[in-house]
Amino acid sequence: MTRYSRVIGTGGYLPEEIRSNEQISQLVDTSDSWIFERTGIKNRRIAGPHETASSMAEIAARQAIEAAGCDAEEIDLIIVATGTPDRVYPSTGCLLQQRLGIKNCVAFDVQAACSGSIFALSIADQYIKTGAASKVLVVGSELCSRIVDWTDRGTCILFGDGAGALLLAASDEAGILSTHIHSDGQYEELLYCPNPQVATEANKDEAGFISMRGNEVFKVAVNTLGRIVDETLEANNMQQSGIDWLVPHQANTRIIAATAKKLKMSMDNVILTLENQGNTSSASVLLALNEGVRDGRIQRGQVVLLEAFGAGFTWGSALIKY
Ligand code: UT7
Repeated sequence: MTRYSRVIGTGGYLPEEIRSNEQISQLVDTSDSWIFERTGIKNRRIAGPHETASSMAEIAARQAIEAAGCDAEEIDLIIVATGTPDRVYPSTGCLLQQRLGIKNCVAFDVQAACSGSIFALSIADQYIKTGAASKVLVVGSELCSRIVDWTDRGTCILFGDGAGALLLAASDEAGILSTHIHSDGQYEELLYCPNPQVATEANKDEAGFISMRGNEVFKVAVNTLGRIVDETLEANNMQQSGIDWLVPHQANTRIIAATAKKLKMSMDNVILTLENQGNTSSASVLLALNEGVRDGRIQRGQVVLLEAFGAGFTWGSALIKY
């Protein structure tokens, strides 16, 4: 009998503070209309000074565990995707394990920028399929507002904070049908975030902020996500019409619309959260999935395509029978 990974619970957390396009227009030379037309974003959430990736992860994780109706002690693996860990070490996964009070499990982080949740999901699926784990907690948690240069209008308009989580369990019933992850390290200069603490003489003057050549990233993202749609459909011997929902990484409505077009899918079948959340990097796909599940749009038995693209470049997809 095939052993699948099934989503048994989802959760999400968004910090309280809302920062609008109008507020950002007072910081940099931009406007609500420019931001909304070019990106689809109106507001984003900003974490409070007391919040960290692990504190936000804990709230999202507890929601997912509660939705699954299981005990945290049953979890045997925690994978946290984040580009803004609380500490260099221990990993945010270990800090989350401590917060959840789980004694006997393995915990680690995955760093794949905005594709982190898909990478984490793919790893979790391999562990479950091989029998190495039975219940895996996957979390994406990001404090993008702390690594954004609030004087750079090319990036500060885009990003937001938040955490998304899901709990996977081994099952005989179909769940994750396939995952596909890729990296191409030759694009460092188009999108990166320096780590000043480990700077060399050559880059000692770089601040720890996101640097992005947005338009170039945009073009690669559209083409690459088109290819991952083909790869996922082919691997599952499926037509576009077999997919009920697209749950994309929330970077830009125009990128998402191009992927929906590739799937011959109406935007009504796309879970869109970026208008009020912005780009929450590795949290965005999990937050969108959680929203679609909790508001009842995504129903058990439906086929859902998750996809993401981010720095590295990294990109990936997961096809799920929910
Ligand atoms: O999640 C990880 C992956 N990241 C992404 O997928 C992000 C992909 N990139 C994007 O979403 C878009 O490229 C942006 C939203 C960042 C920028 O949109 P764009 O349509 O690619 O604009 P652009 O960079 O080509 O700039 C067009 C014009 C420029 O002015 P000129 O040279 O035509 O006079 C920019 O200086 O818009 C100007 N501009 C702005 N104007 C007002 C750039 N940023 C802003 C701004 N407000 N915030």
